[in-house]
Amino acid sequence: MKFVNMQSYQLMTPGPVPLPEWVLNELAQPVIHHRTNEFEAILERCLKRLKLVFQTKNHCFLLTSTGTGAMEAALTNTLPKGAKVISIISGKFGQRWHEMAQTLGYRSVPIEIEWGDDLDLDYFKKMLFAHADAEAILCQACETSTGAMLPLKELAEMTRKSKTLLICDAITGLGAYSIPMDEWGIDVLIAGSQKALMLPTGLAFLSLSDKAWEKTKTVAPEQTYYWNLVEEYKANQKTQTRFSSATTLIRALDLVLEHIEKIGLTNWFDAHTERATHFRRLVLNPQVTLFPHTPSPSLSCLLIPSVDTTRLQSHLQDKHRIVVMGGQDQLKGKVLRVGHMGWMTKEQLTSTAEAIRASIGELTGA
Ligand SMILES: Cc1ncc(COP(=O)(O)O)c(C=O)c1O
Repeated sequence: MKFVNMQSYQLMTPGPVPLPEWVLNELAQPVIHHRTNEFEAILERCLKRLKLVFQTKNHCFLLTSTGTGAMEAALTNTLPKGAKVISIISGKFGQRWHEMAQTLGYRSVPIEIEWGDDLDLDYFKKMLFAHADAEAILCQACETSTGAMLPLKELAEMTRKSKTLLICDAITGLGAYSIPMDEWGIDVLIAGSQKALMLPTGLAFLSLSDKAWEKTKTVAPEQTYYWNLVEEYKANQKTQTRFSSATTLIRALDLVLEHIEKIGLTNWFDAHTERATHFRRLVLNPQVTLFPHTPSPSLSCLLIPSVDTTRLQSHLQDKHRIVVMGGQDQLKGKVLRVGHMGWMTKEQLTSTAEAIRASIGELTGA
């Protein structure tokens, strides 16, 4: 794929996402030091404001890493080595849970779902019964490789009264639609900065339920160093991060969280649903359908059998200056993924839908 001038293309991927000018301006300001009163006030606000989007009373962590770092921190802080976990695999990121758990020394039982299909809750209940000794279920809120939304509320209903933790990667879920962590009883919820929180890549977030906090006591101290959340919590109590803070990103986070607070969480979620609905109304037709059975408002994963979508992706970038994502692994060449998170206008969604339709015609001669 050819390099394109950054100024001249429209980023429409499911992360990283386009950013508002006021975030870009903040990112361009001089660096401040993390051990200053000025920064401590910003960090304090962010730690407090994150609770709004996590919909939790519990502490929210911000880590200087991509989302995967917070996924690893979730496991190593709550599960002793050798623990059995159930990994729900409905796409590439579910596979990542399974691989990560195995690599870190956990016994991961994979539960595979046909990509794009819904999780069969009756079957899952049986599997949970058969693996009643599993200490955690690992799942996604939205499986970004297929665009599917998973039934978190129903999963949490199965785990909330048991000892099993529900650990959820909501990297493309949190901020795009409501995931009331405390109300539903999710034990660990994970997010990333480059998605619905409208920042560059580089920050990850997570929060632990009381049940997950209790589980941190079962973990040997040598199991984790950099990701030690108990130590990080102690630092946060002093309005500090344990290691150098990503001050520039955190300053921009402060603005984004203030913005969400101002417009209201429900309105923020509704804007994602409206963008998804608008785009789908324009782009879908008998030749272009939604791949997942239960689509998330975070992105549209389009199944387009008439064209190789890897070619379509390149064509959109080269000819129309629009960057979207193709399919991964078994969906390579078959689907096109368009994001609905970030700072995008209805006009940009309209022009993306129009460009997809035109490009299909240009490539197929239809
Ligand atoms: C659902 C999901 N999980 C995990 C990740 C990995 O996040 P990161 O690349 O920030 O580590 C992504 C990234 O797109 C994702 O969409």
